[in-house]
Amino acid sequence: MNQISEKRYRDPSSDQDWHDLAAQWRLRSDSIYLNHGSFGLQPNCVRYARRGWIDRLDEQPMDFYLRQMESAMLEARVSVAEFVGTSTDRLVFVDNATYGMNVVAHSFVLRAGDEVLINDHEYGAVHRIWQRACDRNGAKLVSLTLPERFESQDQIVDALVAGATDRTRLLIVSHITSATALIMPIKQICDAFAKREIAVCVDGPHAPAQVELSIDELNCDFYTASLHKWLCGVLGSGFLYVNPKWHSVIQPPIKSWGRLLPAVPETWDEEFTWIGSRDPSPFLSAPAAIEFMEGIGLAAFRDRSRWLANYAEERLTELLGTTPIGNRSEGWYGSMTHVPLPPGDWSSLQSQLWEQIAIEVPIISGKNNWNIRVSSHLYNNTTQVDTLIKALYRLTS
Ligand SMILES: Cc1ncc(COP(=O)(O)O)c(C=O)c1O
Repeated sequence: MNQISEKRYRDPSSDQDWHDLAAQWRLRSDSIYLNHGSFGLQPNCVRYARRGWIDRLDEQPMDFYLRQMESAMLEARVSVAEFVGTSTDRLVFVDNATYGMNVVAHSFVLRAGDEVLINDHEYGAVHRIWQRACDRNGAKLVSLTLPERFESQDQIVDALVAGATDRTRLLIVSHITSATALIMPIKQICDAFAKREIAVCVDGPHAPAQVELSIDELNCDFYTASLHKWLCGVLGSGFLYVNPKWHSVIQPPIKSWGRLLPAVPETWDEEFTWIGSRDPSPFLSAPAAIEFMEGIGLAAFRDRSRWLANYAEERLTELLGTTPIGNRSEGWYGSMTHVPLPPGDWSSLQSQLWEQIAIEVPIISGKNNWNIRVSSHLYNNTTQVDTLIKALYRLTS
């Protein structure tokens, strides 16, 4: 159940106004968590909702699976599909974005000589997924190097389009990039590739809640996401959107009954309902996460988390004397910031920050440098950022 009883105005720049919300999470008091972008924390109401589902399953599995699960799954899918701007006939639950991407790679038909286009801002595991799919079929994974500085949306769309050839069958692109935290001009990218009849698979785990999402309007072919990040769903909950033109192609890699007998699957999405006996509580708890975030107000969440990310960015750039790849004021960043570290070997900085001051923040190697990525959610505050800055001052000077 959502613990937020009233939606009231909170000033995005005031720690005091947001202070009460930290109590909604079970936060460890011995450390500072500035890495919601990697693994999100669930608020207590979501943790309790999940436990409720686990209890219902554990106390009588037969009744739960046979008589409760399918309708509960459908209800949860309706809620998630509405939240991300699509319908249930186009969206299935999967464990996470990784799983969803593997479903697409498993089903998408590639032939010898075909090309799959990816770029150097994509998630490492996603490169691996498509390298394997290409290797199996004699296709080629082509990885583009995007410009060093992101100056305009057109520049990025043009750079991606320039990488396409008449052999390109599929573009893999993040909605919000992982290591570099950039919000990509995803609608423009999808439109440009649709015009060239090249399919687009969007890797979107950072998007739900962090940005407004209306997948049907994107006109992409596939969209895969995790719900444990900015939406604060349970780890092990995600979804895969499939445009109707691919419904005859997409299959779950884990083939089972599809539905619980005596029902048999009749549509592509029903094939994903029953993929073996498993715990569906992460999926069933998704509506609780949506209710929690909507209870606070998505616009208010975005304003606050972006304000905090901007605060971190300003303090980091001041300390480090570097600038991010794109300009925040032009819309390249949301609830995360990504700031280059000065030249040097910073490979042990992340563990120093953890071991010496118990701050959890990723230090990420780039092409020729190291970067820090700071995530801001509603349990974070400026004091935590200031602690990070003080520690970095000591460790980097
Ligand atoms: C852009 C991107 N894609 C995919 C993933 C994988 O997400 P998950 O581990 O939830 O499947 C991540 C994780 O951080 C990511 O940032």
